[in-house]
Amino acid sequence: RASSSSSSTSSRHLLSRAYSADASPERKIAVLGAAGGIGQPLALLMKLNPLVSHLSLYDIAGTPGVAADVSHVNTRSEVKGYVGEDQLGAALEGCDVVIIPAGVPRKPGMTRDDLFNINAGIVKTLCTAIAKYCPNALVNMISNPVNSTVPIAAEVFKKAGTYNEKKLFGVTTLDVVRAKTFYAGKAKVPVSEVDVPVVGGHAGITILPLFSQAKPQGSNLSDEDVKALTKRTQDGGTEVVEAKAGKGSATLSMAYAGSIFADACLKGLNGVPDVVECSFVQSAVTDLPFFASKVRLGKDGVEEVLGLGSLSDFEKEGLEKLKPELKASIEKGIKFAHGN
Ligand code: NAD
Ligand code: LMR
Repeated sequence: RASSSSSSTSSRHLLSRAYSADASPERKIAVLGAAGGIGQPLALLMKLNPLVSHLSLYDIAGTPGVAADVSHVNTRSEVKGYVGEDQLGAALEGCDVVIIPAGVPRKPGMTRDDLFNINAGIVKTLCTAIAKYCPNALVNMISNPVNSTVPIAAEVFKKAGTYNEKKLFGVTTLDVVRAKTFYAGKAKVPVSEVDVPVVGGHAGITILPLFSQAKPQGSNLSDEDVKALTKRTQDGGTEVVEAKAGKGSATLSMAYAGSIFADACLKGLNGVPDVVECSFVQSAVTDLPFFASKVRLGKDGVEEVLGLGSLSDFEKEGLEKLKPELKASIEKGIKFAHGN
């Protein structure tokens, strides 16, 4: 009995080692803007992720406190705080994934494009440093307007000679999170089982949820239901901005969405098969140079940009409508990067 119990103990031990997160490769993650509304809960969620071994928290102010606080959580990663531009290089060195929620959020009445003047410069500075200190990292861009900040990042990396289109991602996961939540409520299906692709971009009508491809199909939704769900997903950010009444935009749901996307990037890097998330990436899916769609993530970042699948007439119409706005936002980002 003793020996059988010890052998089962040791096989349990082996099994748990085989699946132990500590056995997963060392991965360094940086959060830039880590003392902000998104940055703080995102730092906590990344501290809870067993795939992370080193967590680097950077901001222009406030990161020593955030890092000290988060570092007491008894999980795998070592946490370090970096503050001010002269510590940015050290924050970035050796990073596998860099998440950027740095910059100003909207207030009621503003569009995401109204943030361009301030956030474009912030993103440019941060991406210049990424090109220098961790040119191989996967970059998860959260700062708005994503439809422009991703093209800015691409141009900065091109200029530095480090651009790899497989490693630059606009984070649109919050649109997917919202579409799943709203769909589950309306279709009366368990939210944990729901999948809804969201394509296009990340602003207003450029956000195009594909409810015709939603899974599982629940009680039949009318055309009016689908229109209302689409509008609510497109206006999800504004719904939060208005409810916060001047105190910023989505932070907690965004931190959740950002952590889901970063986790998918880490899984891809670690060789987990079939990791698919929607993201705004360089794309040949439409005639626009960047577009959000389902993307398969692998050991080098984007393994495959997946197509749109079959669209309903309503979605086809939405796709044509979004293109001029998305094109203009992309061009605005490219022009900014060239002009500065
Ligand atoms: P916030 O103001 O609470 O935090 C932003 C943080 O960025 C602050 O701590 C600030 O000090 C820091 N920061 C400013 N300049 C910096 C620089 N040069 N380097 C490093 N850090 C810098 O704002 P928030 O609510 O966390 O939102 C951040 C950004 O994320 C906004 O642009 C917002 O629009 C965007 N956002 C995007 C999504 C999305 O789905 N992609 C969702 C929500 C918010
Ligand atoms: C969101 O979708 O919540 C973000 O892009 C923030 C915003 O300004 O709406």
